Amino acid sequence: MAFRQPVRQAKLRPMQKSAERMDHLLSRLGYCSRSEVRDLLREGRVRVAGELLRKASAKVNAAEVWVDEEPIDHPHAFYLLYHKPLGKVCAHDDPRAIYQDFPLRWRYRRPALSSVGRLDRETSGVLLLTDDGDWLHHWTSPRRAIPRVYRVTLQEPLRSDAADILAAGTLMLDGEDTPCRPAALHCLTEREVRLTLTEGRYHEVRRMFAALDNLVLTLHREAYGPFLLDDLPAGQWRELTVAERMTEEIP
Ligand code: URA
Repeated sequence: MAFRQPVRQAKLRPMQKSAERMDHLLSRLGYCSRSEVRDLLREGRVRVAGELLRKASAKVNAAEVWVDEEPIDHPHAFYLLYHKPLGKVCAHDDPRAIYQDFPLRWRYRRPALSSVGRLDRETSGVLLLTDDGDWLHHWTSPRRAIPRVYRVTLQEPLRSDAADILAAGTLMLDGEDTPCRPAALHCLTEREVRLTLTEGRYHEVRRMFAALDNLVLTLHREAYGPFLLDDLPAGQWRELTVAERMTEEIP
């Protein structure tokens, strides 16, 4: 199956923000509440360009701000590749939330760190996270038809017509009013397959195989667009490089 190719016109989102009030900056980065910023300043824990700052309303350039002798934590948008382990959920308000694998301060950031799409509790694999809403939209927009590659173990041997049905783009799932987009199925063994989708509906892979009279036993996302885990262990994350963060426009 051929996937739509993006036009190579890379765009890097600007990282530089204009000056911002100190109390606003530190509270939105999860350091403390706006009123507590005054305590930090009074205690002499905040420096701007090496100088102690005392005024919460002072406008500062985030790149120059240090707290407790360290540059502030990710003052601009940031982008992560995470190996979601089994048993964690993509919700924010759940004791099993993936966000527990990240520094505590990040839970209080605004805009919030969010996953690019979701994986079920019992699905592992590639998950991107960011606090950049435009970038998140870029990678989830149905218009871009980003390929998502899943490795699937099935309870039953695959039906002989499964690949044709999935490729035809006619499979209707319960409760949906449009068929699934064409998907590419590659058989690895009798009960193991690699499936490539270009959309991300709720429990889509599990529901697709249920519609083919089968049951998904294990599900792992190997790739999301160009992003692969390589040897990143489950539960671990890394920051994307500047080149990886670049997005490509489609006409
Ligand atoms: N399809 C599913 O069924 N679950 C996922 O987590 C992702 C795709």
